[in-house]
Amino acid sequence: MANVEEYLNRIHRDPSPLLLELEQQGHANDIPIVSRETGRLLSTLVHAMQANRVLEIGTAYGYSTLWMALALPPAGHIWTIDPDRARTDIALGYLTRAGKADAVDIINQPALEVLKTFPVRNLDIVFIDALKAEYEGYLELAVPLLKRSGLVIVDNLMWSGRSAAEPKPGDSVDTKAIREFNKIFLNHPQLDATIIELGDGTGIGARIDE
Ligand SMILES: C[S@@+](CC[C@H](N)C(=O)[O-])C[C@H]1O[C@@H](n2cnc3c(N)ncnc32)[C@H](O)[C@@H]1O
Repeated sequence: MANVEEYLNRIHRDPSPLLLELEQQGHANDIPIVSRETGRLLSTLVHAMQANRVLEIGTAYGYSTLWMALALPPAGHIWTIDPDRARTDIALGYLTRAGKADAVDIINQPALEVLKTFPVRNLDIVFIDALKAEYEGYLELAVPLLKRSGLVIVDNLMWSGRSAAEPKPGDSVDTKAIREFNKIFLNHPQLDATIIELGDGTGIGARIDE
């Protein structure tokens, strides 16, 4: 089978030079950034929803943040959480160069702490991409912050194929956590959720409860 990722990269427009530079820096420094196609999906969804309030859990160098920031409407805002200040300083540098620093708040604390007292409601999008063992906790705290019809988007749900593999005794804590999370996510009573084979497996759930 032809290499689908290579084919799609060939026929898509190139990302902006800044996104390309950030993507290269992320790969060069072994930072686990989302795939380019996941970045494109985030951008399309932010555009489609005219998302004004976006919460991101897991900033790193701000690659996914920048994809979303470049798609925000004029009054849109992103809150992005990552305790690693050295990484988020790099994110801030790119956001500043993109003219988007004012549209993004970087919060340098553990996400579970932040989410417990996060004051903003009616979020359009929550994007989850931090500690795999905490995904379930992020989901439970984030769903009530979403507006009705808002989206929770989750990265790494295929976990490089390990989620779908036959369970075995040596499976890591993260692999087990993602498998458990996938069941909870797909059966969440407040979400209409699905997992698509894009990037490393992308969960998309719309809040449906009244
Ligand atoms: C997969 S990376 C995020 C990549 C980013 N979303 C992107 O695609 O450019 C995960 C990040 O989660 C951060 N992290 C670790 N513990 C965390 C916590 N308790 N709360 C929030 N983020 C955390 C790590 O520092 C790391 O930068």
